[in-house]
Amino acid sequence: MVTALDRDPQAVMVAAERLKPYLDAGRLRIFDGSYALVEEIDELANEFFDGVLLDLGVSSHQLDDDSRGFSFRPDAPLDMRMEGAGESAADVLNLTDESALSRIFREYGDEPRAGRLAREVVRRRSAKPFCTSNDFVGAIRATLGSRSGAPDFARLFQAVRIATNNELGGLATALPHLRDKLVADGVVVVISYHSGEDRIVKNAFRDWSAACICPARHPICTCRGHPLGELLTRRGIVADELERATNPRARSARLRAWRNGG
Ligand SMILES: C[S@@+](CC[C@H](N)C(=O)[O-])C[C@H]1O[C@@H](n2cnc3c(N)ncnc32)[C@H](O)[C@@H]1O
Repeated sequence: MVTALDRDPQAVMVAAERLKPYLDAGRLRIFDGSYALVEEIDELANEFFDGVLLDLGVSSHQLDDDSRGFSFRPDAPLDMRMEGAGESAADVLNLTDESALSRIFREYGDEPRAGRLAREVVRRRSAKPFCTSNDFVGAIRATLGSRSGAPDFARLFQAVRIATNNELGGLATALPHLRDKLVADGVVVVISYHSGEDRIVKNAFRDWSAACICPARHPICTCRGHPLGELLTRRGIVADELERATNPRARSARLRAWRNGG
């Protein structure tokens, strides 16, 4: 039996239609919700899995549907909510204070001029609230200059999307819960698309694979004193040239895997 989960109700609906024969045959069940809240799904309370696969981030369906507001194409709404509820990207840009905005642009968007961009957003929103992609693209252009373009917009829209959906917080919460749902020798595999996501996965898998996680200056080991499992991918696996050519969205993907020691 495969258990599938997505926080986007549209993705759940499309998957349920496309995979109906497997649902009908009792070989698949699909839940609408975040993997960060997997502990709260009653049906899964006493379940253990042979494998867990997380394919993180946004889907091509979400990116390509302008009404979802993930895109920087002109006149798109600033929405970006995977669940369709809660704070939108426009709310994040209109309500977050300047220093927190600066952190979002720097940490999630690797933006060297994060402070200046945050100041520009705050200045512009006091005259007119951010509402469409044009508003944010305008602020980026004004800060980064006329040579800024699609890669900058993609990077900074992604930063706002990560903040809107609390993607890194959800991942950090979910990983240990998902690990504890693995059978002995069960494997967790994560495909990430952003350096912040990948760092969380890399550090978690490294800690779980270490015999001792005491601070370096600890005179004696007071932690669990044995590894929880085995790292299966030391550097992570990236798409090769052929895959990148046929599927450019695989460019930033990195896959890491870890096996539960039981
Ligand atoms: C890269 S796409 C998956 C694409 C899919 N594997 C396919 O081949 O079509 C990422 C999916 O993860 C979902 N997602 C992102 N964060 C999530 C979370 N915290 N819990 C559940 N689903 C999440 C998104 O809504 C999106 O549909």
